[in-house]
Amino acid sequence: MKPGEPFFHRRFGALCVEDVPLSAIAEAHGTPCYVYSRAALLAGYASFGAELRGHAHLICYAVKANSNLAILNLFAGLGAGFDIVSAGELARVLAAGGRADRVCFSGVGKSADEIRAALQADIRCFNVESESELERINDVAAAMGKKAPISIRVNPDVDAKTHAHISTGKKENKFGIPLDRVIAAYQRAAALAHIEIVGIDCHIGSQVIDPAPLFDAMERIVALSDELAALGIKLRHVSNGGGIGIRYRDTDQSMDIGAYLRGLIARIGARDLELLLEPGRSLVGNAGVLITRVEYLKNAGSKRFVVIDAAMNDLARPAIYGAYHDIVAVAPRGGQNLRYDIVGPVCESTDTLGQDRDLDIAQGDLLSIMSAGAYGMSMASNYNTRPRAAEVLIAGDTMRLVRSRESLQDLFAHDILPG
Ligand code: LLP
Repeated sequence: MKPGEPFFHRRFGALCVEDVPLSAIAEAHGTPCYVYSRAALLAGYASFGAELRGHAHLICYAVKANSNLAILNLFAGLGAGFDIVSAGELARVLAAGGRADRVCFSGVGKSADEIRAALQADIRCFNVESESELERINDVAAAMGKKAPISIRVNPDVDAKTHAHISTGKKENKFGIPLDRVIAAYQRAAALAHIEIVGIDCHIGSQVIDPAPLFDAMERIVALSDELAALGIKLRHVSNGGGIGIRYRDTDQSMDIGAYLRGLIARIGARDLELLLEPGRSLVGNAGVLITRVEYLKNAGSKRFVVIDAAMNDLARPAIYGAYHDIVAVAPRGGQNLRYDIVGPVCESTDTLGQDRDLDIAQGDLLSIMSAGAYGMSMASNYNTRPRAAEVLIAGDTMRLVRSRESLQDLFAHDILPG
């Protein structure tokens, strides 16, 4: 199966999402446009739940992967928790009907205001990333007359074997508390009057395909939980973070989620520990595409370019990580392919969405950039004063606009002309 199938599939040659042709979506809402399959989102979530039945667990969807309220609302309805990294993400979760008591708050730089907002909402847990943050959380909780539930994010010093920009579990990364200081940090936490210890956490990186480093990290934090228990510090949960990789091309290896989850449960063994996870990409990545229209075909002699109406501001991954996304014709013409670089209108050479792609297309045709559901819209910007794309959610033959395209006025609504 190709990445995205069976939810993205061809019917008489035309690319469809569930029962709707992508061309109909482009007609209704214009391009560039993000499109998500509800059935794909449900299937992604179900692939976790099925395997974890029988062990206490909570799937905390990593909001940063795609923070559209409709998607958060869908997961909230399934009973999901949420992994957040800002007060903004907390506000989105609450606006989407998510439960605060299922929210974990990660991130290395939580401000006092953000900590206050999270305590006010009574979130489930702060994932503490430094000793100084622990002190700040205690101070803010004290001022509010509350007790803050915490887990410590351990930096387990394992190599996730992924792109350097999305690797987080090595000791040279800024994330978490180093292994050799974790016990002392818990002892300090136990001594603080406004801190309640509830768990232990790690997250070693993203787009991880080999489960071995994830297991390695799990073994380290489970061993720490034993050490803590021996010191009289009893944890309720253990979190292995997110990071499960997806297939971006046909030939990519996929992670066997079932085997991964069974491996985690085996490592918890008979211990009375709830398993928390923070998956982002694996729940939404292959559930979304970005539809774009060909503005121009340009022959530069040694190279041919397709200039499309989507750009690095819409999908930053190729420019930032050299990431690969399949790019396919929505309605292939069935003629001879030519080799193209696919570029956007932004004034940067890195505004290249795909290199050396073989396509048979003409000006005005629609293309679909595949596997764009994770870290697509959530990383979009207004660079070059470009409005961010519309977002559409498909369920069967039903098309719902879940974010309207920004207007030009939106783009400078907060600018102030000095009087
Ligand atoms: N938990 C924490 C603490 C994280 O920092 C992240 C992602 C996740 C969970 C979710 O990881 P996932 O399951 O999605 O791999 N923009 C990059 C990915 C950055 C990931 C940042 N942290 C990309 O487009 O590849």
